Amino acid sequence: MKKIIMAMAMMLSMGAGEAMAQKNAALENILTRTSVRSYTEQPVEPAKVELLLRAGMAAPTAMNKQPWHFVVLDTREALDRLVSANPRAGMLKQAPLAIVVCGDMTKALEGKAREYWIQDCSAATENILLAAHALGLGAVWTGTYPIEDRVKATTEALSLPEHIIPLCTIVIGYPKGDAQPKDKWKPENVSYGKFGGKK
Ligand SMILES: Cc1cc2nc3c(=O)[nH]c(=O)nc-3n(C[C@H](O)[C@H](O)[C@H](O)COP(=O)(O)O)c2cc1C
Repeated sequence: MKKIIMAMAMMLSMGAGEAMAQKNAALENILTRTSVRSYTEQPVEPAKVELLLRAGMAAPTAMNKQPWHFVVLDTREALDRLVSANPRAGMLKQAPLAIVVCGDMTKALEGKAREYWIQDCSAATENILLAAHALGLGAVWTGTYPIEDRVKATTEALSLPEHIIPLCTIVIGYPKGDAQPKDKWKPENVSYGKFGGKK
């Protein structure tokens, strides 16, 4: 009885949705993920790197085209190659791992639908971020496409062929410090039935 009262009090104080999420590992993982930009020197185990890539490739894609290619940077030499291409990516200097998520235009849809590669690769990126968090790693999405000079620098640094377009670099490592998730719940960003509609 006491437990039920406590659970009800918790649900009232934090909102039923948040309370339910705390009991569901997948939802809790989504709600507690945050960008991590500082890492220890501990390398990321190859089995975890494979899990990150499997998570990325599990993402939905338009017509299941899977128009992507992942470039894994897991040596200091490879990571530094990208640092010099993108001096703003300070995290890369101390990270043990990065995954460059790219669109493969030979696998993308044709015509206007080609642009779905961006959404497909973004879905893969978010999956990798969530998998990293679930594995005790910290990660951050650093944007590349459509910033032309970043695309050019990454393309040159990694010798990407013309049909491979870098969307972003996910910088990954074991977290140093205690980055806290932001509360982004804003009911005013939601409409019901039509724009501006209230519940
Ligand atoms: C398209 C995109 C590009 C981003 N580029 C960068 C970046 O270049 N550098 C960086 O530190 N964070 C970058 N981020 C991470 C955001 O700053 C971060 O997700 C945002 O501040 C929200 O914080 P959270 O991830 O902790 O919830 C990017 C995120 C996205 C989705």
